[in-house]
Amino acid sequence: MISSKINDGIKGSPLIPGDKSISHRSIIIPSISNGVCEVDNYLKSDDVLNTINAFKVMGVKIEEDQGKIVIYGKGLNSLKEPNKEIYLGNSGTSARLLTGLLCSQKFNSTLTGDSSLSSRPMKRISDPLSRMNAKIVTNDGHLPLKIKGTGLSNAVIDIKIPSAQIKSGVILAALNTSGITKIIEHNITRDHTEIMLEAFGGEILTKKENTKKIIQINGKKELVSKNINVPSDLSSSAFFIVAGLINSNSKLLLKNININPTRTGVLTALKKMGAKIFLHNKRTSNNESICDIEVLSSDLNGCELDSNIAKLMIDEYPIISIAASFAKSPSVFRGLGELRVKESDRLKLINLNLQRCGVNSSIDGDDLYIKPSEEYKIKNNNIQTDFDHRIAMAFSIMGSKIGPLNIMDSDSINTSFPTFIDQYNKVGGHIS
Ligand code: S3P
Repeated sequence: MISSKINDGIKGSPLIPGDKSISHRSIIIPSISNGVCEVDNYLKSDDVLNTINAFKVMGVKIEEDQGKIVIYGKGLNSLKEPNKEIYLGNSGTSARLLTGLLCSQKFNSTLTGDSSLSSRPMKRISDPLSRMNAKIVTNDGHLPLKIKGTGLSNAVIDIKIPSAQIKSGVILAALNTSGITKIIEHNITRDHTEIMLEAFGGEILTKKENTKKIIQINGKKELVSKNINVPSDLSSSAFFIVAGLINSNSKLLLKNININPTRTGVLTALKKMGAKIFLHNKRTSNNESICDIEVLSSDLNGCELDSNIAKLMIDEYPIISIAASFAKSPSVFRGLGELRVKESDRLKLINLNLQRCGVNSSIDGDDLYIKPSEEYKIKNNNIQTDFDHRIAMAFSIMGSKIGPLNIMDSDSINTSFPTFIDQYNKVGGHIS
């Protein structure tokens, strides 16, 4: 458990770790490419370490060298049959992406995870893959997944759930499948997999058609490895951005942050609320957009966010709900059904914990309503996180305004941001 208390402004330049989504892909894709890949600034968190372990179990040589990892890839069919179950801890990204990759291999494998991951839906990935003839046995739609390595056949796959994990799992299956697999993504989501595969010489064509994206992959083409410098994570930055906005006397500079447009919904939303956020020094690295972000204390207004923006900021609702609690007017965030199947039922926990903090919040269907007030009377200062890292970090920031709050089961923060407490205290926070 951690305790978060009021502070007098957040100032400085905290170190934000590497992007979680790009870090996973920086292990998976080089492991099935040809050549040696050095990955710099990868996120050394529990989720990513589980992906590294999975590939070590399948015989890939992965070494750590002065903070970088070096991956020796030997091609699309070089993975070895694992001699034990592959344990993925809390990581939904590892589970969905590896399911796609493994059903296109020639060996059998079993994927397992912790109790939270074991309660998350897996039919959303096994169903589209079964249309390519994948043989996956689920435990009533959940982990453990028993995957039979068989040859897949190409198909046209419609993806209606807004999920980059599903899309990326299908892309990885298509890479080792003869012919052209066509994916129709009905809601455009984060595209780090497509960007990295293009850089590695994959035969992948993408085209936008109104609100849809068409992805065509010509399979069985070997990939060539490249070194990767992982940009820092906008989702992790968002906790600091909101802390800087809602605490007076704050000024932050976050360096080297990924601003891929499929991820920047949170910046659009906060700017709509009147946030003083300035993007400096925009540049690209490994075909990903990055910049330095300056944040100043701001008087925020409430805002209405419709469901279209949800896929561009799906991980940021816990923290933007904290921002909305300190705005001058009410907010409504619509279309948040996907939050119910994250590391916890995030919609339920955001609402429950805001109410414990005295905020007038409510849920109607999949929409969240937040009515801020000038002063909050804490009703219960124990924050229930259900081991969800983003709920724990978001309510630590809440504690910086109205604390003390006790954040229960806060070890989950190691899932995505093991240095969060150190970095927050370094810029003026009081988390113990
Ligand atoms: C991720 C996709 C999103 C996101 C998760 C990381 C990825 O999940 O919530 O933190 O790396 O592809 P969904 O695909 O379930 O929306």
